[in-house]
Amino acid sequence: MKVLITGVAGFIGSNLADRLLELGHQVTGFDNFSTGQEEFLSKARGFAGFRLERGDILELDALTAAMRGADLVVHLAANADVRFGGLHPRKDLEQNTIGSANVLEAMRLCGVGRVAFASTGSIYGEPAVFPTPEDAPFPVQTSLYGASKLAAEGLMEAYAETFGIQVYIFRFVSILGERYSHGHVFDFFRQLREHPDRLEVLGDGRQRKSYLYVQDCIDAILIALEKSRVRVNIFNLGTSEYCRVEDSIGWICEHLHLNPRRTYTGGDRGWVGDNPFIFLDCSRIRDLGWAPRLTIREGIVRTVEYLQNNPWVLERR
Ligand SMILES: NC(=O)c1ccc[n+]([C@@H]2O[C@H](COP(=O)([O-])OP(=O)(O)OC[C@H]3O[C@@H](n4cnc5c(N)ncnc54)[C@H](O)[C@@H]3O)[C@@H](O)[C@H]2O)c1
Repeated sequence: MKVLITGVAGFIGSNLADRLLELGHQVTGFDNFSTGQEEFLSKARGFAGFRLERGDILELDALTAAMRGADLVVHLAANADVRFGGLHPRKDLEQNTIGSANVLEAMRLCGVGRVAFASTGSIYGEPAVFPTPEDAPFPVQTSLYGASKLAAEGLMEAYAETFGIQVYIFRFVSILGERYSHGHVFDFFRQLREHPDRLEVLGDGRQRKSYLYVQDCIDAILIALEKSRVRVNIFNLGTSEYCRVEDSIGWICEHLHLNPRRTYTGGDRGWVGDNPFIFLDCSRIRDLGWAPRLTIREGIVRTVEYLQNNPWVLERR
């Protein structure tokens, strides 16, 4: 396959590029390096089948030129941080919705027939059903990030109906692992490096969250692409467990041999759009034969080890 990955220099994109190249596929990466890192591409650059195009998905001409000849687009480029939506209210709309519309339009112009899209469990807002299946109602959107991703999902489905392309929509829980560069483990690790004796926790620490290891996430994407063949394919991706933020802190501190004094900003959520409980029903992808290899705890420890070995990542975000 010839695969174009938008957001190739990011956490998930660079891991996916390495995997596809190892499997013998050709990969063209497209990235504006807004949050992506050159270092994440060092392995990919060692493959003859890898090509990098620097560019912005908001520039349709450049995107279309990079996409020519691709069999599959994996669209990961986005503003991936849910937390700061209120600080720049147009960013999610532009990066996540209009950017996705451009990806679809470039595909139409180039005649590319398949796209895999990184959506998010945040689109469920605060659902009433747990674990939450793909066909759960979306009661109310709670973040600009989630709303922008849900709008992009709608565009994907509409392009599938209108132009006959095949779409794969993956609603991830939070992803962990090597090259992780944003999220709660990152924040806690950075704090503990600066002041090992204290830790500020956003919210009351009782939020229940589900996390998935990045290689398990990639396994699921590849299995879905191989085995699910309808026009619109929608999959939740997560583990069949959840933990409390407090559990996660305990595992991180145990691994680091620290016992910091914890302070809490209070309330049942840490920021606008922080869902107190995320737990997705992943039986649809499991029915295709996928199962995660790491538990949440193992994924968190693996992530801390990565950050310990790569402290430069902490300076970049
Ligand atoms: N990491 C998670 O926990 C998680 C959870 C749910 C969904 N997702 C989604 O998965 C995707 C990848 O997330 P990630 O964690 O790897 O994020 P990331 O920030 O590490 O990677 C995003 C990449 O996209 C690039 N990019 C951003 N805007 C761009 C633009 N306008 N043009 C070209 N490139 C651009 C960045 O430079 C970066 O390399 C995102 O769409 C994100 O919303 C991630």
